Formats: sequence, C-alpha cells, structure tokens
Amino acid sequence: MAEKEIDEHSGIQTTGHVWDGIKELNNPLPRWWLITWYITIAVSVVYMIFMPSWPGLTGYLKGTRNHSERENVAIALAALDEKRGLQMQQLLQVESVAAIENDPELLNYATTAGGSIFGDNCATCHGSGGQGFPGYPALVDDDWLWGGSLTAIQQTIRYGVRSDHDETRYNMMQAYGGVLSRDQISDLVEYVTALSGREANEAAVGRAKPVFAQQCASCHGADGKGDQAQGAPNLTDGIWLFGGDRVTLQETITNGRGGVMPAWTDRLTNEQIVALSIYVHTLGGGE
Ligand code: HEC
Ligand code: HEC
Repeated sequence: MAEKEIDEHSGIQTTGHVWDGIKELNNPLPRWWLITWYITIAVSVVYMIFMPSWPGLTGYLKGTRNHSERENVAIALAALDEKRGLQMQQLLQVESVAAIENDPELLNYATTAGGSIFGDNCATCHGSGGQGFPGYPALVDDDWLWGGSLTAIQQTIRYGVRSDHDETRYNMMQAYGGVLSRDQISDLVEYVTALSGREANEAAVGRAKPVFAQQCASCHGADGKGDQAQGAPNLTDGIWLFGGDRVTLQETITNGRGGVMPAWTDRLTNEQIVALSIYVHTLGGGE
C-alpha cells in the first residue's frame, strides 16, 4: 500500500492510487449527499418500526401498524361482494319498471351486469347491441313477438321459445307447402305484401283474403297485426323477423320456420336473468 501523502496543489490528501502518474484525491463526500444519506437511513429505521419490512424465517417483520396490502384487497373485495350481493338481492325484489327507474344506482348496476351477461350469452344470436339478424329478433325496437314488459321478457329468457324446457313458450306455424297450393301461397305472399302497406297484385290479394282469414288469422289476427300471446309476429309493421321480400315470404309460408330461443333458467342464476331482463328492457323498446 502506498504512503499517504498530501497533494501539493490542492492540499488534499491522496488515496494512494496512481494511474499513469495521475493521483486520486481523497475528497470527502459532498455534505448535502451525506446528509441526505443519513436521512434515508433514519427514515428506513422509522419505516421498519411501523411498516412490514424484513423477511424472517417464518413470516416477516410486520411492523407496529400491522399493515397488509393483501388483506386490504381482500377486505375491499368482500365489501364489494356484499354490496353486489345486496344489489342482486334488491334486483330480485324489483316488481315493476317504474320501481327500478326510480333507483338510478340499481338501474345502473343492472344494466352494467346485464350488458356483460348479454355479451357473453346472447350477442352471438341477437347481435352485440341487440340489433338482431334475420331469424333472430332485434331487441332494440318496440316490436315484440312475445311482449316487451319486464315480466314477458323475463319469461322468454327464462324458458325460451320452442326450447327443450318443459315450460317453454311454444307456438308453431306449420309448413303450408303441403297444405295450400303453390298458387294459393303466391296469392298469400301478395296479401302479406299488401298488409305491410306496399304495392301488390290486387287480384291476388282479393283471392288470398278468405284463405288468410281461414288459415292465418287464428295466430296473426284478422288484421294481420299479430298476437303476442302466441308469439305470432305483426305482419303489418314492416319489421321482419325473416324478411319481407317476396322470395323470403314464399319460403316462410311454404316451409315454416320455428326459430329456437334457448331456455336460460338452468344456465344463469335468477339474479342474472333479472339483470338481463332489465338490460333488454332498457335497450330501447321495453313496454
Ligand atoms: C341460439 C340463438 C339465440 C340465443 C343464444 C339467444 N336467443 Fe333470444 N331469441 C332467439 C330466437 C330465434 C328468438 C325468436 C323466437 C321466436 O321466433 O319467437 C329469440 C327471442 C328472444 C326474445 C323475445 C323477443 C320478442 O320479440 O319477444 C328475447 C327477449 C330474447 N330472445 C332474449 C335473449 C337473451 C337475453 C339471450 C341471452 C341470455 C338470448 N335471447 C339468447 C335466439 C337466441
Ligand atoms: C299456429 C299459429 C300460426 C299460424 C296459423 C300462422 N302463423 Fe305465421 N307465424 C307464426 C309464428 C309463431 C311465427 C314466428 C316465426 C317462427 O316460426 O319462428 C310466424 C311467422 C310468420 C311470418 C314471418 C314474419 C317475419 O317477420 O318474417 C310470416 C310471413 C307468416 N308467419 C305468415 C303466415 C301466413 C301467410 C299464414 C297463413 C297461411 C300463417 N303465417 C299462419 C304463427 C302462425
């Protein structure tokens, strides 16, 4: 080890390290730096007294405040669960649309929860916003096959339509292909076209009138306005489940349809179904 010596230019002691004749001075650390360093040591000691710090062989040094971020998360989650459980419970008590509309917080909860359940289970058939596809009814309009009240919507979701559930909503329009002649069906196509306010062959409409009254009115109504009790669509409103052009009408009447809406009662909880009903109801066309 080299001898300690004082640098002749600065008067500062050297460390004894020399590189290519250049000597390293042993400057003290800057004062501000040292003070900051001592402060951090002091703070860390104080921290260790109060807060969790060193790992031990079993567990860790917990500190006097017994603070645990993990426990805080668990407590917050439990509180949220409790609040949700309460809201879910409240949902089950909802009797009318007015009741939920007067409770913005609960309504908000129901539509948020309902919306996410809808995205997971219903959007594949009804579209992500409930806009529907041919054969899968739009849920955003006020044209309901089976009714748009909260109760009716709930019933549809719970048991489905032509589903495999015992309590399913059920009504089946038969295939008229074997029952009526091709000409009769063509006339009916004109009749249905006229029902929805479009131009149609008048002679054909006249011929179809008694056939409609005899074959179709029991479900679709004498005026063609449909019947929600039977899930028979309104044929006069220009809103089509399958399509209102002549080719599609011909196909519907000849072969029948019988679209299936699954029952959800065994797949979703009661609360989820209520939340969904409220969500569907708020989509725009609830009654
Ligand atoms: C496999 C496709 C399919 C899925 C999935 C599906 N639906 Fe449907 N849904 C249908 C069909 C088809 C109808 C029309 C039934 C008919 O002809 O009466 C329907 C009808 C409805 C109706 C009645 C509409 C009216 O005008 O009365 C509601 C409400 C409804 N669905 C809600 C839902 C909800 C909520 C979900 C998710 C839990 C869902 N659907 C999932 C196919 C589906
Ligand atoms: C037993 C009841 C019943 C009778 C009778 C019936 N329908 Fe239907 N009809 C329905 C139901 C239910 C639907 C809903 C669609 C489904 O089957 O998925 C429907 C759907 C339709 C549609 C499709 C509407 C759309 O929005 O796309 C047309 C068109 C139609 N019926 C015309 C007729 C005509 C014409 C007759 C008489 C020859 C007739 N229906 C007789 C019950 C009936």
